[in-house]
Formats: sequence, C-alpha cells, structure tokens
Amino acid sequence: MTDLPESMQALLQKHDGYSGRAEGPMIEDASEYLEFATIPTPKPGKGQVLIKLRTASVNPSDLHFIKGEYGQPRIKGNPAGFEGCGDVVAAGEGAEALIGQRVAFVVAMGCSGAWAEYATTQALNCIPLQPAVSDEDGAAQIVNPLTAMAMVDIARKDGDCFVISAGTSQLAKLMIALGRDLGLKTIVFVRRADAVEATRALGASEVLVTSDEDVIGQFKTLCKSYKPRVFLDCVSDQMSEQIFVAMPNMARWISYGKLVAEAPALTQMGQLVFMGKRVEGFWLTRWMMETPPADQLKVVQEVQTRFADGRWKTDVSARLKLADVVSGLGAATGIPGGKVMITP
Ligand SMILES: NC(=O)c1ccc[n+]([C@@H]2O[C@H](COP(=O)([O-])OP(=O)(O)OC[C@H]3O[C@@H](n4cnc5c(N)ncnc54)[C@H](OP(=O)(O)O)[C@@H]3O)[C@@H](O)[C@H]2O)c1
Repeated sequence: MTDLPESMQALLQKHDGYSGRAEGPMIEDASEYLEFATIPTPKPGKGQVLIKLRTASVNPSDLHFIKGEYGQPRIKGNPAGFEGCGDVVAAGEGAEALIGQRVAFVVAMGCSGAWAEYATTQALNCIPLQPAVSDEDGAAQIVNPLTAMAMVDIARKDGDCFVISAGTSQLAKLMIALGRDLGLKTIVFVRRADAVEATRALGASEVLVTSDEDVIGQFKTLCKSYKPRVFLDCVSDQMSEQIFVAMPNMARWISYGKLVAEAPALTQMGQLVFMGKRVEGFWLTRWMMETPPADQLKVVQEVQTRFADGRWKTDVSARLKLADVVSGLGAATGIPGGKVMITP
C-alpha cells in the first residue's frame, strides 16, 4: 500500500438503510442520494482486493439501491456503485495472486463501492479480463451478462420460444442475441416504435410495441403459433400482467426488475389454478448463492468469450467523470440506447 494515495475521491451514499418506497430506478436529482467527497483510500481485508478504477457502469440496481429500494440496505458515507473494471493494486491475505491484473468486478456487501477512484471487494467477485475485452465491456461484464445467461438457460428448458419485455435494455439485447445463437425464438416488447427495426436486427423473432392499441391482440395471435411458456419481465406493470394472462397453459411470468413504480394487479387468479401458470422472481444474487462454483465458472468463461469475439457488446449512451455525476446523472440516465459509464 506504500505507493497508494492516503485519500481518494468518491460518490458517497447520503442515506442509511431502506426508504420504504418503491419508486423505480428513475433519478432526477442525484444530489438527493449522493455526495462527491474526498475520503481515506479503503484498505482490503482478508480475501479482498483493492482495485484502481478504470470504468464503472450505472445499472438500474445502483439507482434502486441509492434510493433505498434494493435488496440490501444502504450504508451512509460508503461509496455507491456495484460494478466496474479496474486494476488490482493491493490485496489482503490470500488474495495476492490478483495483484497487477485488470479485472471485472462486483462489489461485495460491506465493501467500498465502485463509484470511486478505488474500490474493494472479495477476490471471488473479480474476473481477470482478456486483453480483447474493452474497459467498458469489462465494466458491464458481470451483472447483466450472467443474468442473461442464467435466465435464457431457464427459458430454454421450457420450450423453444420466450417472451422479453423492455427489449431496448442492455440485458434484453444480450438475451435476444443469445436466444438467436441458441436457435430459440423470442417475442420482444419495446415501448418505442423506432426501436423495432434495431431489435429485429439483433435477432428477435417478433417485436411488438406496447403503445399499439391492439398489442395484446397481436400477442395472442403470435402465442397461437409460437406457444411461449416463459416471460422474462423487468417492467412488471399492468401490461406485463396482460401479457402473462394472454400466454398459454403452464406459462411462467418471471419478474426480474421493476422499471416502473406502478404495482400490477393479478386479474385472473383462476389461471394459476386451472392453467398451471406461475408467477416467479429471479435475482442474480440468489443464483450465485445456489449455483455450484464450477457451473458459474463455465458461464463466466462463455460470457467473456462472447464479449472478446464481438457476439456481445455494451452500448454506451453517456460517459461521466466522477466529479460530474452528482450534477449529470439524472440527465445521463434519461438518454436512451445504452449504459452510463463513470470514469475517475
Ligand atoms: N434480477 C436480477 O438479478 C437483475 C440483474 C440485472 C438486471 N436486472 C434488471 O434488468 C432490467 C434491465 O437492466 P439493464 O441494465 O439492461 O437496463 P438499461 O440498459 O439501463 O435499460 C433500461 C431501458 O429499459 C427501457 N425501459 C425503461 N422503462 C421501460 C418501460 N416502462 N417499458 C419498456 N422499456 C422500458 C428504456 O429503454 P428505452 O428508453 O429505449 O425504451 C431503458 O433505457 C432492470 O430492471 C434491472 O434492474 C435484474
């Protein structure tokens, strides 16, 4: 640690715990949740590494988290940011092998977040990167890609067609391309008509626009021929419920995100009883706890290969310096088409 600075710049959480609200990952004024400050450079504990940040990504989970509505409590004064790419510059006992490596990482609970010049995490939460993977792909290498792999694996065990909402999200784009590569068909919902062509070009079999008056009628017609059983949904609003209701017997509505604040109402409880339909959730954190390490390693390797050979890429809509995040995050997250990236 001798060559490392005593202090660093970071975006600190302004609140503790949970907000008790569920407003969705929209941010107008980031100064309600974050402050830019200089704090002591964190030190890695046993089994942990200190990472000098190259690039951090902004995921909806980060926004839910700083707003106090994610699956773990906020820690006031701790840097925010779950995911990034950087160089391991120091390590605690047992993690020395990673020193000098460029890694993709997610921040383990209780460690020091990625929206900072330096972050800490468990060595187990780091993936050494091949040179062919860019820093921006590295900064979005874990949360969405592993979720895409895990959820498409769920879908493929239940037929040859699945349904995806928010088709322009980065995660949906990964799943559409993966589905195409695996020979699966996808029916994809987008909210912007101008996104239809690009979504088809990615490999979607069918693309429907949620604002079309007869969108559910169109979907019902498609269900007759495609017979999709799995709906991978991160919007989770009343339209999602209508999509689920329109699906055939044994359909599974797997909610993995909440892009809107509106809570849907279940209108056809009989479908759960008589049609064997199910409503479920997916959370990558649980998948990581339940999936054997050897299986996770295979998925991690496939993910990196897909980025290295260009089958997957991370679309970037805006880039912000750490110092500009508090003033610029709200506007940057409103730009469609890709991820916001943060650099020191
Ligand atoms: N459960 C898990 O383990 C897990 C893991 C990873 C991600 N997620 C979830 O996956 C979702 C997508 O994540 P991401 O990183 O891919 O997001 P992202 O790239 O930031 O994309 C979000 C995009 O979704 C579209 N969108 C927003 N609200 C919408 C709505 N009401 N209807 C249709 N489209 C809407 C917007 O695109 P346009 O403006 O172009 O319409 C927006 O840019 C999030 O909900 C996230 O929390 C869950």
